[in-house]
Amino acid sequence: MEKNERPAREQKLARLPALLLPWYDENRRDLPWRENTNPYRVWVSEIMLQQTRVEAAKEHYIRFVRALPDVYALAACPEEKLFKLWEGLGYYSRARNLQRAAKIAAERGFPQDADGWRTLPGVGSYTAGAVCSICFGQPTPAVDGNVVRVLSRLLGDGRPQAALRPAFERELAPAYPRVRCGDFTQSLMELGATVCLPASPLCTACPLLSLCKTKSDALPAREKKAERRKTAVTLLLFSDGERLALCKRREGVLRGMYGFFCIETSLSEKEAGDFLSAAGLSSFRIGAPARHKHVFTHIEWEMAAYPVSLPAGGAEAGEGAPFDPAGALRLPEELLPEGCAHSLFADLGWFSRGYVKSRLSLPSAFRWALAHVPPAAH
Ligand code: ADE
Repeated sequence: MEKNERPAREQKLARLPALLLPWYDENRRDLPWRENTNPYRVWVSEIMLQQTRVEAAKEHYIRFVRALPDVYALAACPEEKLFKLWEGLGYYSRARNLQRAAKIAAERGFPQDADGWRTLPGVGSYTAGAVCSICFGQPTPAVDGNVVRVLSRLLGDGRPQAALRPAFERELAPAYPRVRCGDFTQSLMELGATVCLPASPLCTACPLLSLCKTKSDALPAREKKAERRKTAVTLLLFSDGERLALCKRREGVLRGMYGFFCIETSLSEKEAGDFLSAAGLSSFRIGAPARHKHVFTHIEWEMAAYPVSLPAGGAEAGEGAPFDPAGALRLPEELLPEGCAHSLFADLGWFSRGYVKSRLSLPSAFRWALAHVPPAAH
């Protein structure tokens, strides 16, 4: 940026509150986290909204704060219940961090400024800025993707987004009004979410039209997306007619979450059958695979899920009962490529479908396969 551009940018930004606050009063959406400015509730909503659209987050948010109404309830919540409440939002590390931070805040109280908030796990300058402006009326910008889009277009600034974010945080702080800091933060987000859309922005409805340098979707500059690594994944969907077998993942993506028995390579039906025979399973029936692609941030799983029917399990009926009670099954590693990640039979447990649906959180990378678990024999 040229030095002589600075005063013009400052002046433009300084005009934003007078234009945006009346627009926000008329156009703000009724959202459940806008009912009050309780820091716990606002913080939870901002964490949810980081990678989830408003419409998708609403129901989850209501359920979450009903089940866990304050920071003490969140701090004390068993992990499975927490993940169940988070199911469908993805990025479970956000839920883990939320609870780690809740444990700290339950002991020490919530921080009272953005520097303090940034010391909590999972809280960056965006969340710290949002909470402190909305809850405490402080002039702390919260620059998310929506706000970057609005300001890059307003100022005609085509720098890469990674450079824009910290620049806008710095430049926006002095433009904050003396009162209604939280509404100003949310008015920028709201404009980005409802008017200054990524494609086909509604410029004629925009309160900033007369100030805007771009008046189109030409900015912000498109970022080159990093290539995703593609991994072939084989799932084995064991069923004894009534129950299905799941394990807690020990490593890799979705570590600590439940999933089906998983081998990170591509196996044909014959190879999967040979693998199970060599593992020591004698009486099983394997079916044709269901296929599905799941996209993570940096990885893409190309999955084949084989239904595997086993004889009825008999006496061991408790939820989580071991899949391999005698510990007799051995992984035939010679049938897998070297270094290939896989689940262990010893980690598998039997669960009823009802329990899985109501109590366990199955990440969406696996949930689709529930429909392909062999049905109960009647
Ligand atoms: N996106 C992120 N935070 C938001 C908020 N408080 N309201 C609406 N959309 C948002």
